[in-house]
Amino acid sequence: MTKTGSAAAVAGANFALVKYWGKRDDRLNLPAAGSISITVDSLTTRTSVTFKDTKERDSLLMNGKAVSGKMLDKVSGFLNLVRNRAGIRQPASVETVNSFPTGAGLASSASGFAALALAASNAAGLNLSRHELSVLARQGSGSAARSVFGGFVEMNRGSRDDGEDAAATELAAAAHWPLTVTVAVTDLNPKDTGSRDGMALSRETSPFYPNWVAGADADLAECRKAVLNRDFGKLADVSEFNCLKMHGVAMSSRPGLIYWNDTTVRLIHEARRMRNDGIPVFFTVDAGPQVKFISLPEAALTVKTRLDGMPGIKELFSCSLGEGVCEAKGGAG
Ligand code: DP6
Repeated sequence: MTKTGSAAAVAGANFALVKYWGKRDDRLNLPAAGSISITVDSLTTRTSVTFKDTKERDSLLMNGKAVSGKMLDKVSGFLNLVRNRAGIRQPASVETVNSFPTGAGLASSASGFAALALAASNAAGLNLSRHELSVLARQGSGSAARSVFGGFVEMNRGSRDDGEDAAATELAAAAHWPLTVTVAVTDLNPKDTGSRDGMALSRETSPFYPNWVAGADADLAECRKAVLNRDFGKLADVSEFNCLKMHGVAMSSRPGLIYWNDTTVRLIHEARRMRNDGIPVFFTVDAGPQVKFISLPEAALTVKTRLDGMPGIKELFSCSLGEGVCEAKGGAG
């Protein structure tokens, strides 16, 4: 059967408040525990996929540059999932553009694989449900399963061996509680150890890893409740606790993973100082040195003003909560 087609999609990055750091199955990319995140509106990936009737291989153009090697292999492997499901064999040309630095801990794989899942499945003529898209996106990147949805999103660990129940669901829409995220970029270079390798190392070597996994359900319950009750103090408390625990696990791996630089540490202290000054803001940090300040919208300008001009900050982005992955018109650009 031959089917060719073209489709484009756009997805927002997401930042986890209760983090995913460890897998229960590497092949199907199943998380060891659930996670909760917020999807943002202005850090996006836009991807177009065209399946072509040629004998060429898959091609990938990322931010205008042709990409080969490991990254292309990963995308081809992901496209195979879509091709197998649709019963097609054509190679695809994929074009993807990020509105933010790639691979520096700003969740480019989350928005990237969520956009790719929708664009590729539509281009292949599949009409997947949100649940099916989330299961598919997860196989590209665990956090991508969450960018399928907007607002506050919970990733379910699932218990099935085939991973069909390891998908995200919407916890609350963006309009439920319009938080603001101010992202302080402290290093524009890609990190040394990506999340995938980092979490595998933690599982194998950190003495804290079993406790980290065992504590996830309690953190998830607290976070869920704080979101549903719009309780900022409780959300700040559980999110910072969970973030520092994740970095504790990373740092106690062997060799230890230190994702922070000196500016990261200064910014963490600054977030705490702001909160002590009565500003409703808290921090979170993923597998990289960037710091995300999450605040109530009325405090966003104050947060930005406090951060503006601080040494070591390379870029500041402000985002609101956004929608899940959606179709886009035209090409990737
Ligand atoms: C620290 O989703 O990038 O951002 O599933 O191996 O692709 P893979 O990992 P990835 O890990 C994200 C880790 C994190 C925390 C989080 O987003 O929950």
